[in-house]
Amino acid sequence: MEKIIFLFIQVISVYSQSGTNMKDLNTYLFTTTGYNTDVRPASDQSQPTDITLDLTITGLLGIDEVVQKMSTVGFLTLKWTDDFLQWTPATYGGITYVEVPQNKIWKPNVHLSNGFTDFTELGGTFMLLTVDYTGNITWIPYKVFDTKCSIDIEYFPFDQQKCKIQFVVWSSSINSVRLSVGTQGVALDDLQSNGEWDIIETSSESFTDDNSSFVACYLTLKRIPLIYVFEILLPTVFLSILGVMTFVLPVESGERISYSITIFLSFAVFLTIAIASLPGNSHAIPYFSRYLILQLCIDVLVVIISSVQIRFYHREETQPIPKILVKITKLARILQCRGGYCAKKGTSPDQVSPKELDSKSSEKGNDVIAFKGEVQCENDAVTWKDVVSAIDFFMFIFLVLILALSSIITFIVLVTKYH
Ligand SMILES: *[C@@H]1O[C@H](CO)[C@@H](O)[C@H](O)[C@H]1NC(C)=O
Ligand SMILES: *[C@@H]1O[C@H](CO)[C@@H](O)[C@H](O)[C@H]1NC(C)=O
Repeated sequence: MEKIIFLFIQVISVYSQSGTNMKDLNTYLFTTTGYNTDVRPASDQSQPTDITLDLTITGLLGIDEVVQKMSTVGFLTLKWTDDFLQWTPATYGGITYVEVPQNKIWKPNVHLSNGFTDFTELGGTFMLLTVDYTGNITWIPYKVFDTKCSIDIEYFPFDQQKCKIQFVVWSSSINSVRLSVGTQGVALDDLQSNGEWDIIETSSESFTDDNSSFVACYLTLKRIPLIYVFEILLPTVFLSILGVMTFVLPVESGERISYSITIFLSFAVFLTIAIASLPGNSHAIPYFSRYLILQLCIDVLVVIISSVQIRFYHREETQPIPKILVKITKLARILQCRGGYCAKKGTSPDQVSPKELDSKSSEKGNDVIAFKGEVQCENDAVTWKDVVSAIDFFMFIFLVLILALSSIITFIVLVTKYH
């Protein structure tokens, strides 16, 4: 019991002693010595005050591709030595450090030099700085950094951006205040992950021009492309495949125009939604957008060609066929026969056995079309319906090639830039 009372008394006495000491220390530091916040705290005013700066990023708010802006949140750790705030701990009951409001002492006017917002004082009047007995000061102001960053979206969504957050000692000359990078540089403690960007690298450097000293902190950001591939690229490819399928539908089914228009409309509606989520910037059109527009052009082409084909299909056979179309049709026949498409059925009607002909006719229900479609020879007369099916043949191959080539090229261009 005695021991407890003794301890209690001791705690009280240590506490009260420290309180008085703290008041004495405050009086000593800010009244007795005549501390002036306007005077740079160097006992030798010809020597510059060295400030070290470390940046801790706690979150990436986002990148605005139109305004070319990066928004991050984090805090700075600024350290310097104040020659006027030094004391002997033994004199003040062993106090080794005090916390003082930030507007009570001199501070360097460090500010973002590539910021988007108005200049305001870092930190706030409610903030405390830590001062230790050797005069070392630690100031940790928290801030949302809106910084300029030139963003190149050419390789969107497989792009990487290098953005910097640059600080300057705004109105002190290099002869009085010097800024340099601290021990840790840029740290990513407790980083809140961003849904679209990964921070893959950080670095920092300090440099000076004639009049000011700067610290630049660099962040290398990598976009996570998965969402764009799933929500925009894949649906586009699927719609394009459906578009190509227009030329597989027989013209006589009468569905072709409505089918191709439907595909075109779905694509147009889809693009309206998709483009809203793409970054906008008129200086460089991303390869990704060019790909989408190419697919849209292909769909327009499909609608146009389909309309022309239907017009051809309903022409009177007595109308002469232009020479170029006859040539195209014959070329299609040659290619189809080379490709083994009609080799089995022979090259002339004579080689087809009556039995085979019979079964073919009954399958199709329309013996004339089935017969003509499969066994025509290079030298047979060309009808308007042959022209239409030759166009089908070429368009199908052409569009499959365009789709495959454009997809492969876009993919290679984008992915080779992605590390
Ligand atoms: C004050 O800062 C100097 C230089 O940065 C360092 O050497 C010294 O140990 C610091 N003092 C204390 C009490 O931490
Ligand atoms: C530095 O200051 C001088 C005089 O104030 C000025 O002439 C010069 O252009 C400044 N240099 C830079 C790089 O701002």
